[in-house]
Amino acid sequence: MRVIGLMSGTSYDAIDAGAADLRLVGDSLVVEPLGLVSEAYDEPLREALAAALPPATTSMEAVCRLDTLIGRAFAATAVRADRELCAGRAELIASHGQTVYHWAEDGRVHGTLQLGQPAWIAEATGLPVVADFRPRDIAAGGQGAPLVSLVDLLWLRGLPGRPVALNVGGIANLTAPDGTAFDTGPGCALIDAAARGFSGGRLTYDAEGALAARGTVHEPLLRRLLEEPYYALPAPKTTGKELFHLGHLRDALSGVGTLPAEDVIATLTMLTARTVADAVRAVGATEVIASGGGTRNPVLMRMLEQQLPGVVLRTSDELGLPSAAKEAYAFAVLGFLTAHGLPGTVPTATGARHRSMLGSITPGRDGVRLPGGGGEGPVRLVLG
Ligand SMILES: Nc1ncnc2c1ncn2[C@@H]1O[C@H](COP(=O)(O)OP(=O)(O)O)[C@@H](O)[C@H]1O
Ligand SMILES: [Mg+2]
Repeated sequence: MRVIGLMSGTSYDAIDAGAADLRLVGDSLVVEPLGLVSEAYDEPLREALAAALPPATTSMEAVCRLDTLIGRAFAATAVRADRELCAGRAELIASHGQTVYHWAEDGRVHGTLQLGQPAWIAEATGLPVVADFRPRDIAAGGQGAPLVSLVDLLWLRGLPGRPVALNVGGIANLTAPDGTAFDTGPGCALIDAAARGFSGGRLTYDAEGALAARGTVHEPLLRRLLEEPYYALPAPKTTGKELFHLGHLRDALSGVGTLPAEDVIATLTMLTARTVADAVRAVGATEVIASGGGTRNPVLMRMLEQQLPGVVLRTSDELGLPSAAKEAYAFAVLGFLTAHGLPGTVPTATGARHRSMLGSITPGRDGVRLPGGGGEGPVRLVLG
């Protein structure tokens, strides 16, 4: 089944569409990647989104407009992915949408909201769309995240040693082979916020880690940042930009004095490396398979390597799964599982009471034709 996974993460830098040909062979799920297209949000939409995200307050009108415009933008990317990656023969769309709020409180997740009305995607492509993946796991007592954990686990199972899958997007998360999965804390979120803040909006991220490379890690600032209680919470745990935004950095900076932008960004880069490394050590990993935009920051990757002596650090590209598209592929897999009546969660990873079939389905031009299936589902993932 040719499935297109659509994803825009907390960085809201771009809508990533990953297409894959998926099939169940015995107890294996064979994933043949067909490619990735990535399309940046246009600037007015990006600005409207930035203006509505926490800690800002917003209106129902703004939410309605965003839901519509994001849905249309996702639809345009889906049409392009179908044409360019699937020769117009995609069969199913799995859309994560854009997270605008993740309601985590008192160590529990009570709700989550992803925008990007799937009706626009179904209308533009004619295909059935699985969307709203996270709420079902939350309704079952879970965190609704990290949802890539099932796909990670299926994949890690076939690899030697004790590898963990790490994704460094706006937030960083990891999955260990024992079924533990959690957000470690910020990935690029604070680095991006600082780059934007210091440049007056001219920069949206620290390209190639150039600013961090010119700075020095400021130990007192790093210590203050590490006092954030989230890092010490036990898993399962998830977080978002509701916590890790510019205000969080400003609070830590107050009392430290005025620092050069480069030093602040070097310190934030070290914060990500340190908190990820602590998490990797805590699960006893021998190898890290990294993906996400953060892997394109060489300073971050070097710091991470230094923090993890004796641990092999590789990107998912080296194993055949393009790191920029990994999350999009993961949602393609989750949509495929829903279409087959199979669960898409691992309770040890999300903390839910039980496994759940995920998502809501919007019919396509020909309605919804589900292949059926049921049963236990695959136990491993094989790249075809
Ligand atoms: N060339 C690069 N140099 C440094 N950082 C990069 C580069 N490319 C991407 N990034 C970082 O990766 C982030 C986007 O990663 P992504 O995996 O798309 O995250 P999300 O899932 O949150 O959208 C950007 O905001 C930026 O911080
Ligand atoms: Mg992104």
